[in-house]
Order: sequence, then structure tokens, then C-alpha cells
Amino acid sequence: MAATDDVACLPPPRARVHRLVLAVLAGGLTACSDSPSILDSTSADGQRIERLWWLMLAIAGVVFAVILWMIFGSVLRARREETGSAEANEQTGRRIVLWLGLIGTSIVLVVVMVISTFDLRALSLAGPSELRVRVVGQQYWWRVEYPDHGVVTANEIHVPAGEDIAFLLETDDVIHSFWVPEAGPKRDMIPGRATELTLSFAEERVYRGFCTEFCGLQHARMQLSVHSQSPGDFETWIEQQQDPAASPQTELTRRGREVFLNSQCVGCHTIRGVASAGEVGPDLTHLASRSTIGAGVFELTHDNLTRFVANPDSMKPGVIMPPAGLDAPQLDALVAYLESLE
Ligand code: CUA
Repeated sequence: MAATDDVACLPPPRARVHRLVLAVLAGGLTACSDSPSILDSTSADGQRIERLWWLMLAIAGVVFAVILWMIFGSVLRARREETGSAEANEQTGRRIVLWLGLIGTSIVLVVVMVISTFDLRALSLAGPSELRVRVVGQQYWWRVEYPDHGVVTANEIHVPAGEDIAFLLETDDVIHSFWVPEAGPKRDMIPGRATELTLSFAEERVYRGFCTEFCGLQHARMQLSVHSQSPGDFETWIEQQQDPAASPQTELTRRGREVFLNSQCVGCHTIRGVASAGEVGPDLTHLASRSTIGAGVFELTHDNLTRFVANPDSMKPGVIMPPAGLDAPQLDALVAYLESLE
């Protein structure tokens, strides 16, 4: 009986299809409104990709329109029974296959191939870069190093606006892919091989980036940000990051440092000037100068940090970091210490 009622409540099939189409379109638009797009590129490389994208869309649109015209044309002709002789029809069919199917398609493919070959070549010819940034993809975060400055950080990359930046891309585990859509092309990070990508960030603002190669359970939440700054602000940031970790100034943060040194945390995380054990987890020397944790997924707030340290898996299922295994006073002290690491 209940089943019959349910069926009675459903809209007619055609209305259901309309609703489904609307839902898909609305979902697509919602997803797009907040997502950085290659169509909003601020760099020359990105704009090159954008032009190619529009060209291919235009060609696909024309091909689609021609095919629709042929389908509807043949249906209408069949209805009007203007079929003519079988021989004439066969000749017309052959001509269409030859001109549209073979010659037309070949011209389109060759034109697209020539244009994209030139574009690929231009994308691979990078100008000289003043700044090198090494980015290492790891499940599920990004280690960020400035080899010429002795700076190591994670997930939040700072660069001077308008300059060509050479990104040296590597991975410590599986394949990841580094992509900042508004800055240019993506580049895979392949185990055992270093790849290079030159990008520039024209505007002084935050650019969002993503891992675009499925790398495990938290692939979709392996995000990064590029903070494009004035050269002066960038220099200030670099100098601040070069300093070793701040010394604890209160009893609570002093206890927090002891908790860090006596817990499993020290086996995976480095705090420069305190302990330099590992690269398994992000460098925490200046953790509090970052605005997010969990690879760009959670805002760096007291509550988020406490929850993450206590049990990372509850916030990012599949993350490699284990629960801290601390009692409440130890956790409080540790979080207070981490929050003091500006
Ligand atoms: Cu890393 Cu997907």
C-alpha cells in the first residue's frame, strides 16, 4: 500500500526528466561559481590554453550543429517522402561521407593539431626564473621548499606577483598532479622523476590549486594555495620563514613543547630549532603563520587544530597521521605551543 502511495506522489516521467536536467545544471553552476577556472586565467600561458579551449568549443559547436541539421533534415525528408531514386540517394550519401566525413574531419583535425602543437611548444619554452620553488606531493599534502632560501613550509606557497616562478615538482609516494587553474597548465608529479613547470601570478591575491590525479582516499581534499604578493611583502615573508621556531613564552607553551618532544609527533614533523626528525608530515616551524590545515581544507582555528591533532582521521578519513594519543591537558598544552609558532 505504501509503495502505491509513493508511486502516486511521483511527478509524471517527462516532469521528472526536466527536474533531473535542472538539478544537474544547477549543480554544475553551483560547483563552478566558487571554483577557480582556466577561463579566468591571469597569465599568458593560461590565456593561451583558454584560447585553445574556446577554439575547440567553437569547432565542436559547428560539428554538433551540422550533425543535428543532417539528422533533422533526413527525418523531415523521410516524412515528406521526397526520397527520389535509390541511386541518387546513394550518390548523395557517398558525397557526404567523402566531403564531410573524410575531408572535413581531416581538415579540422589537422588545424587543431597544428595550433595545439604551437601552443604546447610555447608552453614548454619558459623564460628565466628568478625564484625556484620545490613542491613535493605526498598523501595528502604538499611539502613546499625554497632551495635558495632555506625555507620549508607546506600547502601555502608564497610568490612575488608578476614574476616567472620555476616549480620543481616531485612526489614521495604515488602520482599526484599540480594544478593552479588560473595560472596555467597542470603538471604530473611522477615517482622517481622530477618535472618542472614555470608559472606566473599576475595579480596580488590568493590563487587556489588542486591535486588533479587520483592519489587515494583524500585526493579531492589535497588542495593548496598560492599567495601572490608584492616583492616587498614576499621578502618579509621569506625572512620571517627563515627564522627558527619561536621559543615558548608561557608555562603552557613550554609544557606544549615538552609534549611535542615526548610524543610520536616528533617522529614525523620538523620544528626547526627544536627537532628535525621527519619529512613524513608538514614542517611546523611556522605553522601559526599559515591560514589553513589539512592541505587547504580546514581553516586554522583553535578548535580545528585541537580536533585534527587529537584524531585527524575524524576530519580527513584516510589521512596517514595517526591520533595523537594524548590526554586533555597534554593536548591543550601542545595546541597552545603550536599556535605560538608564528
Ligand atoms: Cu594527490 Cu590526488
